[in-house]
Amino acid sequence: MNPTTITLHSQFRIGPVDERVFGGFLEHLGRAVYEGVYEPASPHADADGFRTDVMATLRRLRMTAMRYPGGNFASGYHWEDGVGPRDRRPAVRELAWQSTEPNHFGTDEYIRLCRKMDWTPMLTVNLGTGTPEEARNWVEYCNCPPGTRYASLRAANGHEQPHDVKLWCLGNEMDGQWQIGHVPADQYAIRAQQAAKMMRDTDRSIELVACGSCGTGMATYMEWDRQVLDYLGDLADYVSLHRYVGNRDNDTPNYLAVTNSIDRQIEEMDAVCRFVQAKRRSKKRAYLCFDEWNVWYKNHDANGAGKFAPHLIEEIYNLEDALVVAGFLHSFVRHADVLKIANIAQIVNVIAPVLTEGDKLLVQPIFYPFEMFSRRRAGTALRVALDGPAYDTRSHGTAPYIDASAIHDGKQLHLFLTNRHPGEAADVTARLADGDLVSAASAEILAGPDPKAVNSFAQPDLLQAVPFAEIAFANGQARCQLPPLSFAALTLNLR
Ligand code: AHR
Repeated sequence: MNPTTITLHSQFRIGPVDERVFGGFLEHLGRAVYEGVYEPASPHADADGFRTDVMATLRRLRMTAMRYPGGNFASGYHWEDGVGPRDRRPAVRELAWQSTEPNHFGTDEYIRLCRKMDWTPMLTVNLGTGTPEEARNWVEYCNCPPGTRYASLRAANGHEQPHDVKLWCLGNEMDGQWQIGHVPADQYAIRAQQAAKMMRDTDRSIELVACGSCGTGMATYMEWDRQVLDYLGDLADYVSLHRYVGNRDNDTPNYLAVTNSIDRQIEEMDAVCRFVQAKRRSKKRAYLCFDEWNVWYKNHDANGAGKFAPHLIEEIYNLEDALVVAGFLHSFVRHADVLKIANIAQIVNVIAPVLTEGDKLLVQPIFYPFEMFSRRRAGTALRVALDGPAYDTRSHGTAPYIDASAIHDGKQLHLFLTNRHPGEAADVTARLADGDLVSAASAEILAGPDPKAVNSFAQPDLLQAVPFAEIAFANGQARCQLPPLSFAALTLNLR
């Protein structure tokens, strides 16, 4: 393969990387909450019943905004079921995932977990079976000083100080016919506007995420978003994007090029935001919140058959999936000017980087690219000028073998590189046009010969990020050889 050259300039900026792009998503689904983050009977449980092994592992990802309680679950959830003394909380029949929900973990437990983990709370209100008033009551419960009904209820439940939840999602995937309370765009827009107005009247400091259409494959894609943003007007701070991808055709090079279509989805959704802003002659610009994204295509077991904490959608991830997760994150960095929040779906057991089995815990390959990016997220995204070999794909046009993104923090350059070639190493040279790259502060790589390789409880460390030492520096440039099917994250010192 011919060499690739990457040219950057510290003044060719895309925008500051919002740390909320490194968010997660915790839904009452399968074993995400129970047997995931919360398991009082586990030997790993702390005094609050949270699993310390799961927390310690997730802490490495330095996640920020943590979306909760769903997902599809949110559209049938009544938050009052999940507060107050545990023995008085109802067990309910949960319809989104056909499970039994005991409500042992609710708003106050979630907030406590967020505080322990340094996560930013992000709540999704129920606009399926819930009313706009119920949504507004939740804002009062979380954010207002005691003295009125719901704020005093929180205080009576042991939380005198407000939880101060700034980020609120106006429902979930409401254009999906599978969604409890699914409605057409105009009806959703009315519900969302009514809820948003009352929520904001309860707390002026909150930020609101309008529920966008739930994917590029939907007939409603773009038109739903246009109608909703138009109707919500200045009430919408963000609009949500969702995307799950997979290698259904077992065509690895094509799959690895899915980044092209993620770039495109972000750009199209931003175009809708700009269109509506221009049409409304408004100063207010809605930004993008990619509040569900991941690989998900192998396991669609979504029926809990009435059980508590059933095993649902516990996807096993391989090396090529990890490279695609890196692809999402490249794309997010490349769109730092418009994408302000993103939440990998999800965090434990359910389509997640971490799996539990009894007392044991397994780190899946998708964990590593998230960790490698997240450790280096502070700074400004730079435009990447890439000159190198490319290949044609079945679904995503032409893709360079090297997928790249870069973040500059004034003193160091963080460079993220994926070699998508299935069989050849790539020779990559990076240069900063207005500075010298002189040494590596740190560098790691995730690689392997087999795109289908996975970690298992028998072989937990088959795939993991390891130090990457083979970077040479000459004439202010950095040069490295990336093995086939690899993702590397480099932090380079500047002179
Ligand atoms: O993350 C799993 C599910 O995927 C979410 O509940 C839903 O919003 C989406 O369809």
